[in-house]
Amino acid sequence: MAALLIRAAALICVTTMADAHAWLRPRPLRAVGTVVGAAAGWRDELAREARAALGAAGAAAESDGARCVGFLAARMPDADRGVVSAEFLARNCALALGARARSAWAVSVPFDLFLEYVAPYACFDEPRDEWRPLLSELLAPLVAGAASSREAAERINSLLWRQWDPPIRFMPNQTRAGHPGQLSPLSVIRARNASCTGLSIMLVDALRAVGVPARVVGTPCWARAGCSHDPLAHDACGNHNWVEVWLPEGASAGAPRCAGWHFMGAAEEGGLDSAWFFPMPAQLQRPGALNVSIFAARFGPPLAPSAEARASGSAWPPAALHFPMVWAWGDRSVGADDVSMRYLEGGSA
Ligand SMILES: *[C@@H]1O[C@H](CO)[C@@H](O)[C@H](O)[C@H]1NC(C)=O
Ligand SMILES: *[C@@H]1O[C@H](CO)[C@@H](O)[C@H](O)[C@H]1NC(C)=O
Ligand SMILES: *[C@@H]1O[C@H](CO)[C@@H](O)[C@H](O)[C@H]1NC(C)=O
Repeated sequence: MAALLIRAAALICVTTMADAHAWLRPRPLRAVGTVVGAAAGWRDELAREARAALGAAGAAAESDGARCVGFLAARMPDADRGVVSAEFLARNCALALGARARSAWAVSVPFDLFLEYVAPYACFDEPRDEWRPLLSELLAPLVAGAASSREAAERINSLLWRQWDPPIRFMPNQTRAGHPGQLSPLSVIRARNASCTGLSIMLVDALRAVGVPARVVGTPCWARAGCSHDPLAHDACGNHNWVEVWLPEGASAGAPRCAGWHFMGAAEEGGLDSAWFFPMPAQLQRPGALNVSIFAARFGPPLAPSAEARASGSAWPPAALHFPMVWAWGDRSVGADDVSMRYLEGGSA
């Protein structure tokens, strides 16, 4: 049902426009342009309080719990100051580490990848829901017998939406119909519908809740003939967002032995590395062109590549990139990688 709807409306996955649902964000608009790597005392203070809230599990500075809350406090958006509490960070990390400990495939994720793509409590600027307790409890049983993170990811994308009655459905053009987009998991659950962005955020959070590294990937505008490459001008040209999951090497018997990132469309059937937009129109996109490139979101502000990466030429482009959020076009506060080349070359890496 959801899949049919998605195919029917495949070309148009408009999330929202401009400030149409600014009211969903009960916090002041942040300044455009983020200071890269700025240290601030409040982050250390928050990390210290979160370690205390973790109790014995967070007592040692090098414990997994301490590293988790430390990473989030150091990288979280400035706008979350005063919104995300030490207790929230502690609960979030305790549950993320619990999911990591529950299966061989979750614990095999390198800790740095765990920090960046399992531990975060948010994808973009969506309202800060406490989704992890709910989704962990609901979804852990669904992946209990999964032999690999590939199997877990495919099960979650097939079963997640039907955990509610009525189920959650894809709904394009919500703001145009007068309804703001549903962007955080709890608001999507409440509404039982969302556009591609809300569904992608929800799928990423669901995957993170069971310990699978995941991120939202998307493009502002398809570079189709007849599209002006201006995402705010033409609904029919985009935007579109989807999900990538990271699989450890040799994820399952019978599955291709491929460590790295693989894509899936939220609420689409067909498993990993198969979606309506691949290979076309994804292969029309171009690296290094903001409006028609494909970006993978990171947690926290844009980060400049390290000096080593710049010197070796492995970071391209050699600058801090932001994820272009078409629903908040001027907001450059979410970091991103330009992953267009992967889609031009085949899709997974
Ligand atoms: C979305 O809205 C645009 C313009 O408002 C319209 O052209 C398009 O047909 C709509 N798409 C759907 C699937 O309703
Ligand atoms: C989608 O959710 C919104 C918010 O709850 C609701 O107003 C709208 O009717 C829903 N759309 C459909 C088609 O169910
Ligand atoms: C990119 O999109 C922005 C926002 O819609 C627009 O102002 C700009 O002209 C676009 N750039 C190109 C090259 O189309």
